[in-house]
Amino acid sequence: KNNEMAVIRRGEPLSIFEIDSHTPSKISIKQLKLSLAQLEKGGYDTFMLKEIFEQPTTLRDCLRGRITGDCSRVTLSGVELNRDRFLQAERITLVACGTSWHAALIGKRLIQDFCQIPVEVEYASEFRYGNPVLNDRDIVIAISQSGETADTLAAIQLAKDKGAFVYGVCNVVGASIPRATDSGTYIHVGPEIGVASTKAFTGQVTVLTLLALAVGQLRGVIDSSTVQSVATALNAMPGTIEETLKCNDAVQKLSMFFTYAHNFIYLGRGYNYPTALEGALKLKEISYIHAEGYPAAEMKHGPIALIDQEMPSVIIAPSDSLYDKIISNVQQVKSRGGAVVAIVSKGNTAMKDIANFCIEIPDVPECLTPLVASIPLQLLAYYIAVNKGKNVDQPRNLAKSVTVE
Ligand code: M6R
Repeated sequence: KNNEMAVIRRGEPLSIFEIDSHTPSKISIKQLKLSLAQLEKGGYDTFMLKEIFEQPTTLRDCLRGRITGDCSRVTLSGVELNRDRFLQAERITLVACGTSWHAALIGKRLIQDFCQIPVEVEYASEFRYGNPVLNDRDIVIAISQSGETADTLAAIQLAKDKGAFVYGVCNVVGASIPRATDSGTYIHVGPEIGVASTKAFTGQVTVLTLLALAVGQLRGVIDSSTVQSVATALNAMPGTIEETLKCNDAVQKLSMFFTYAHNFIYLGRGYNYPTALEGALKLKEISYIHAEGYPAAEMKHGPIALIDQEMPSVIIAPSDSLYDKIISNVQQVKSRGGAVVAIVSKGNTAMKDIANFCIEIPDVPECLTPLVASIPLQLLAYYIAVNKGKNVDQPRNLAKSVTVE
């Protein structure tokens, strides 16, 4: 804890005491369920590639025990133990930073669609200084891989001081955020070593999907057929991600065409606008190429001016309710000489005639498309950075846990 010091001497018991008073602290030792293999590269060149390819396994771990065998119910102990809070909630605010904030944007859509509760998403760094109006009917969900992000911790403290119920969605067991929150759900994806978050992002989106289904059921506002179809597809997600990862060679090949680009734009709509933001962040972080993510329909309000032969676009266009709309963005980019990499659902032949490159992803319910669409985007960023000879695991100027403001 803050203001404590631990002394470890070979052959002697561990001692922890308060720095100022030297009073010994109570020690509670928990053994982490970690294997050495989880901390090694396991035959991959980098931790990031290992973590990308681990996602079928990490999602299996994340889902374990949370969906009933017949896929008719989702149970999260954090929700079950706080039923009244979730039943009485008048608003949910999601706070996070970076990739976790992108997961929060997807969480907003999921909670609105399945729970019919108003949802807001805030950068933790803005929330903490934004004088938020909160009361005991508010739930604040803090999302963090490391569980140590300073801005997110400060946002949690502020929310608690104002009487809100604070729920954590974290990866690192026993970290500061799970200890500071009232309750929560671990994503259980194992240690993430690469600075660029990959498996934690898909774990966070998976937990937020489970949470939205569980709370929707609890409040009686989601029909059983929706639960059944989403839970069935979610249960099958480890296999679906395995299938998606088969795009690896195609993505590696196409990455060669873009290694020397200076700018990229990523476009998506609805559930995949946050996926576009996340794809752009991955590219920026590890390849140092400037990349912007945009909701596709906003392109005509400004960013379209940037499009020329030098500015490739990555367009996320699964066969969902917004597919017909996004196809016009592809045409707009093409007619201005821009190259298009389109992420499309399996079997989409029409896009092959328009886009320069098509990467196919398996067909899943619309709310789960970010999980599959993010895989080729992680690989694209990875291979472009590797082609440029960058250190993908430890990109310049970045730290894995941002424990300072
Ligand atoms: O540990 P956290 O999820 O709280 O970290 C938040 C961000 O610092 C983190 O997601 C960062 O943006 C990653 N480098 C993204 O790849």
